Amino acid sequence: MSRDSSHGPTVTPAKPLSLHSQESDFVQIIDAVKKFGATTAVQNVSLSVKRGEIFALLGSSGCGKSTLLRMLAGFETLTSGRILIDGEDLAQMPPYRRPVNMMFQSYALFPHMTAHANVAFGLKQEGRPKAEIQERVASALELVQMSHLAKRKPHQLSGGQQQRVALARSLVKRPKLLLLDEPMSALDKQIRQRTQIELMDILDKVGVTCIMVTHDQEEAMVMADRVAVMTDGRIVQIGTPLEVYEYPNSRFCAEFIGSTNFFAGTIVEDEADHIFVQSPDLPKPLYVSHGVMGQLGMEVTISVRPERVAVTRQAPAQNYNWAHGKVDNIAYRGGYTLYHVMLDSGKMVVANVSSLALTEMQAPTYDDEVFISWSPESGVVLTK
Ligand SMILES: Nc1ncnc2c1ncn2[C@@H]1O[C@H](COP(=O)(O)OP(=O)(O)OP(=O)(O)O)[C@@H](O)[C@H]1O
Ligand SMILES: [Mg+2]
Repeated sequence: MSRDSSHGPTVTPAKPLSLHSQESDFVQIIDAVKKFGATTAVQNVSLSVKRGEIFALLGSSGCGKSTLLRMLAGFETLTSGRILIDGEDLAQMPPYRRPVNMMFQSYALFPHMTAHANVAFGLKQEGRPKAEIQERVASALELVQMSHLAKRKPHQLSGGQQQRVALARSLVKRPKLLLLDEPMSALDKQIRQRTQIELMDILDKVGVTCIMVTHDQEEAMVMADRVAVMTDGRIVQIGTPLEVYEYPNSRFCAEFIGSTNFFAGTIVEDEADHIFVQSPDLPKPLYVSHGVMGQLGMEVTISVRPERVAVTRQAPAQNYNWAHGKVDNIAYRGGYTLYHVMLDSGKMVVANVSSLALTEMQAPTYDDEVFISWSPESGVVLTK
């Protein structure tokens, strides 16, 4: 490692993720930057991925996800920064020694070749013995449950089947790191959900480390052990799906992952175990049952998820976290109903009401007067 200290700027390695991270940080991206002319596609990204982890890069179109993935695959050089895979600098590794395989969004199967030939292609190029190719292709096709369709060409396969062939083609090379760019984008919603579960099972069986790109937050939540939320080439939050959903670190993350209600206001009581916030949106103060790094008079935003908001016909007994309003819109979603309630202040609040709750009260309809309320644990305090 000493040879590395002689060149390049001094960089702080990504923060260890766990006690075990020293030995298990399989991928380390250190202060990676990628510029295309005047565009900075990736800005000072540092992150580590553990061995065997499924890690999702999540962000809206153009935020730099594919660029970061392409740098990991070695298809793009870094403008600055470093990428280490299993402790080795990617830049020092010749392409054929990189333990990485990337599956592209379009799958890019060869149209004139059968599924079997598509999977065998990479191994043939490596000049592997025939018997070994046969054996490895057979077991890769079996893994993705495509053995029975091995003789078909891509146009004779469904989107989901093509996706599995593409996955077999990536896995047959036994990469240590599998990169998936929007692996489900060609699939419709129902088959996509089933394929997500299948893909997780397969990755688990193979034990491969996987970094996947998606702009579908549900997909990231379902599949990934951890998620990185990106915007404008930067990472804004990294955490487990539960962490980024329940404890977003900014308004951007709170809105990007799921939907939420924001109440802007001022801290009017600041204690170690709770705060009160006064907001022009609400007649009652907001009460949050935990302390924050802040002080009296500070401007904050409280995020309250729609599924945390109760809709009732009677005024709540508590002296905080509620408001009166009128039902402005009702969106039936099957398992639940979204109520848009216009508060007396003019603020619109969305509440996700379960079918059970609706049957227990007389379901409010358009223009009905209602109250919304939530518990002190439901508010997340955001300062940026
Ligand atoms: N080869 C290139 N030359 C110039 N600009 C590029 C190049 N590749 C990507 N960019 C720009 O870099 C930025 C990030 O692109 P990237 O493809 O990484 O986005 P993305 O997050 O994958 O988006 P999407 O979800 O739409 O696939 C965009 O502004 C894009 O226009
Ligand atoms: Mg992309």
